[in-house]
Amino acid sequence: MAEKQNYETIKIERKDGITWVILNRPEKRNAMSPQMHMEMDQALDDLAVDPATRVLVLTGAGKAFCAGQDIALFFRGTEDDPAARFRARRASNQWRWQKLSTFPKATIAMVNGFCFGGGFTQVCACDFAIAADDTVFGLSEVNWGILPGGIVGWNVTQTLNYRDALYYALTGDTFDGKKAQEIGFVNFSVPRAKLRAATIALANKMMAKNPAAVRYTKEAIRAVRFMNEPQAHDYLIAKGDALRFNDKEKGREAGMRQFLDDKTYKPGLGEFKRRKPA
Ligand code: COA
Repeated sequence: MAEKQNYETIKIERKDGITWVILNRPEKRNAMSPQMHMEMDQALDDLAVDPATRVLVLTGAGKAFCAGQDIALFFRGTEDDPAARFRARRASNQWRWQKLSTFPKATIAMVNGFCFGGGFTQVCACDFAIAADDTVFGLSEVNWGILPGGIVGWNVTQTLNYRDALYYALTGDTFDGKKAQEIGFVNFSVPRAKLRAATIALANKMMAKNPAAVRYTKEAIRAVRFMNEPQAHDYLIAKGDALRFNDKEKGREAGMRQFLDDKTYKPGLGEFKRRKPA
């Protein structure tokens, strides 16, 4: 699929079902400018309905994943322009949280280097996160005399335990990929030389699964966190019905048939044999 836009601050590469979305201001450590927010906001809409995109990987060009909001262009540059500030802020939150966390295919943050401040939001929004061991993470806002705004403060309390969220937000101390794995900020951390291969392996694992089941599962797991028990119970029943209705592969029926009638597979040990969607 040809890009509808000629992006300047991001790069999009597709290969074997994986779409690599690369924040592309390496000379500024991929700090997020208003233009980058607008471009990502547009790109995620296009990729959400792009059949060639089966898994999305978000990463950064050069030695950084993302150095947070661009202090010059996002903050100082919109200081005297409330309309520009409004547009940049809205696009920023839309792509980094609303659009990325509800993206209809699996998403992986491949954290390839420096990740600071506002860059935490997109790590939290992705379904999975894999870091290079030598990545430097930091909630550096306190060092600027500001707080983790946007929705970083909220994101970290959702993803980290309360003690760690407070500790790193208050001290501004940095931590590496191994520590990020230990505190559950990323799924795992690997030596830099293995980062891409580990990401591709996880993407391949997700692509082998029934896409409707993946989509509905991620939507369900994310949504129930903010519900009480009766709401979650009702929602999950309705969501399961919606999955059955919308699953072109009819995975539930195939799984039951193969387990109960054909006795050709054991669901605890792997995926049922998928048939191609009609
Ligand atoms: N906003 C604007 N510009 C930024 C930036 C940011 N968040 N982060 C880096 N840059 C710019 C630098 O100003 C520098 O620009 P210049 O070449 O015009 O001087 C360029 O990117 C390279 O940065 P530099 O500091 O020289 O690179 P480094 O590899 O030595 O250090 C960091 C990388 C990420 C540790 C360092 O740039 C840094 O601390 N950035 C701020 C991170 C942060 O606190 N972000 C949260 C913002 S709320």
